[in-house]
Amino acid sequence: MKFLFSTIGQKVQIAISGILFSIFLLFHLFNNLVLFLGAEKFNNMVDFLKSIHLFIRILEIGLLIIILLHIINAIKVTIQNKNSNNGKYAVSTNTATINSKTMIWSGLIILLFFFMHLKYFWYTFQNMSINSNFFKIVLKNEFGFLGHPPTAVFYIIAIILIATHLKHGFLSSFKTLGLSKKHRYNLIQYIGFVFWGLIPLGFITIIIAIQTGFIK
Ligand code: HEM
Repeated sequence: MKFLFSTIGQKVQIAISGILFSIFLLFHLFNNLVLFLGAEKFNNMVDFLKSIHLFIRILEIGLLIIILLHIINAIKVTIQNKNSNNGKYAVSTNTATINSKTMIWSGLIILLFFFMHLKYFWYTFQNMSINSNFFKIVLKNEFGFLGHPPTAVFYIIAIILIATHLKHGFLSSFKTLGLSKKHRYNLIQYIGFVFWGLIPLGFITIIIAIQTGFIK
């Protein structure tokens, strides 16, 4: 128990919660790729998810706990770092890149995207019954939805930030979890690339497909 609250324990919590959230993102991408198959298939998929509502609720609560653990520990570690060295690194090394110092900021912009996404997508879907046209909602040309060009641009910027956040996060989390350098630069780099490279690219492709009318 004491370990969990130590600095390294907090970093382990950030690493594990980050990895679990990335696994959610992989599933989330697969769900949304169904948009390419057309309205009927997408609506059927959402109907199915609604029919196993209780199971989805349990996963959502798990997801909420993961996100909270990630954010709370990230803020704690940032504050501890600032207090211990007044925000400056005693020796500037390559490990403390600009990216690591801005993790908390990209994290906060991602949080803003999160609130917007949940308000317009998750909340709207909650209030719709089975057999509704969910596909049409995703494509709506109205603020908060993906048919709306400024919203689409904001989403793409947020997803690029998520990608840089994930890239840095992946490499650090494997350091935190103590995997050797040799491992880090082989298999793990490829797995990392799937998460920080291919998944964000998949989401951006969906948004561009909606904006160009490929998904309609
Ligand atoms: C093309 C981009 C995206 C689309 C079309 C999309 C679509 C959706 C939809 C339709 C929902 C509501 C699902 C439901 O309640 O049944 C949802 C929920 C959610 N989305 Fe996304 N999403 C996209 C990108 C993202 C990204 C990049 C993230 C996170 C970094 C994300 C995180 C979430 C979370 C945490 C939920 C709530 C959990 C859930 O109930 O499934 N989404 N998304």
